[in-house]
Amino acid sequence: MRSREWFRAQITGALFNQRQLALKSGAISLPPHFQGIESLGLYLHIPFCRQICPYCPYNKELYRADVAESYTAAVLHEVERYAEIVGSRPVTSFYIGGGTPTTMLHTGLARILASIYSRFNMQCGIHMESHLNDLSAANLDAIASMGVEHLSFGIEALQDRHLRALCRPYMAAEAMAAIERAVGKGFQCVNVDLIFALPDQTHEELSQAGRTLIELGVDQVAAYPIFSFPYTQWPQLARQKRYRSYNLWQKRRMLRVLEQTLYAAGYERTSVWAFTRAGRPRYCSVTAPLYLGLGASAGSYLRDIFYLNTFNVREYIRALADGNMPLALSLPLSRRMQMAGWLYWRMYETRFKKSDFASRFQERFEAVYGKYFRPLSSLGLLSEGEDEIALTDSGAYWLHALQDVFSIDYVSKLWGTSQQSPWPRAVVL
Ligand SMILES: C[S@@+](CC[C@H](N)C(=O)[O-])C[C@H]1O[C@@H](n2cnc3c(N)ncnc32)[C@H](O)[C@@H]1O
Ligand code: SF4
Repeated sequence: MRSREWFRAQITGALFNQRQLALKSGAISLPPHFQGIESLGLYLHIPFCRQICPYCPYNKELYRADVAESYTAAVLHEVERYAEIVGSRPVTSFYIGGGTPTTMLHTGLARILASIYSRFNMQCGIHMESHLNDLSAANLDAIASMGVEHLSFGIEALQDRHLRALCRPYMAAEAMAAIERAVGKGFQCVNVDLIFALPDQTHEELSQAGRTLIELGVDQVAAYPIFSFPYTQWPQLARQKRYRSYNLWQKRRMLRVLEQTLYAAGYERTSVWAFTRAGRPRYCSVTAPLYLGLGASAGSYLRDIFYLNTFNVREYIRALADGNMPLALSLPLSRRMQMAGWLYWRMYETRFKKSDFASRFQERFEAVYGKYFRPLSSLGLLSEGEDEIALTDSGAYWLHALQDVFSIDYVSKLWGTSQQSPWPRAVVL
């Protein structure tokens, strides 16, 4: 474990010119951080689910109509506070995540969206997560009429034994029927999530799931290996049931099975884990490089600061009812951290232009990152054009495996602590 910490500290030092990252509590004045920002993205978090899945790291609690009502009032307050600061800046991407946003489909979500669209200069449609048990024909109509153009939900697996192991509340046949209804509704993009590297999962099962999704006409498949977050119930469950864990090479081979199935049907890789049917717009979380987060646990990533709202739903509601902003932790971003953040997200999308880096930071990409990227190119992990750098399939996998050394640890510390303590003093990553 010490060598892993050491390894992280070395890479953090090389990328950020500092060994440690620490988010701290304390009041911050927001308006100065919006100066110089021309446009931004918006994220809204709905922290409710009808059932809690044992492996899920996200901030959520069981849905209750009365809490959802108070939550709506709190988000409406937060929108008003930000509308004054954001003014007429265009909002160019809008993502609603959770939890399960469709828990609030008939209890507050429409009011929140009406307020967002009237108070911000919205220049985009909505990408929204949902749950397939909420996707009746009538609910799909309600979702489309709210302005949702890109819809996503977790299928996770298409074999009943895997759905049972994950404690998902539906069977494969119900999942397929929900996909058919959603695809038939005419959204610009329907994305479904799969989880792979499940207990005793075979390559044939994965390939069969891929083929079924293709036949059902989904526009995008996002496939993640199961991540075992220490603060969820999954590690304990896996120990009790003696689930085998897969190494990085085994997971790579499983992802390749899906890659091959989807590529053969004309899908293209559009992020490390997502494959989109050629010619369809992709479903994705916030695409704008800078974004504002609304709701409990939402993060905001501005030019020179990252900050997080409290994760605790009651504290979030209380803070806004008392006239306070629900900010819990923040991290000033040095120039090197801004560059590393930019690069992290571009690599996640698997391709980027060096000229975009230069226009964002007024420095040549080669001068800042050339020494790290040249060896990756020689190893066949990247292909380099005149201006564009693209990750190869194995580059996408291995660079992401490396990123996960950071992100899983960081997420576990940050989200784990924030879920236990509504107002932590500091979190050292
Ligand atoms: C917020 S949920 C999706 C929406 C909805 N709540 C649902 O469950 O269908 C986000 C997705 O993250 C993925 N996910 C959650 N926990 C995961 C884990 N431990 N490992 C890998 N993927 C995970 C699942 O594919 C899940 O569909
Ligand atoms: S996977 Fe989805 S439904 Fe399950 S707990 Fe997480 S957010 Fe809720």
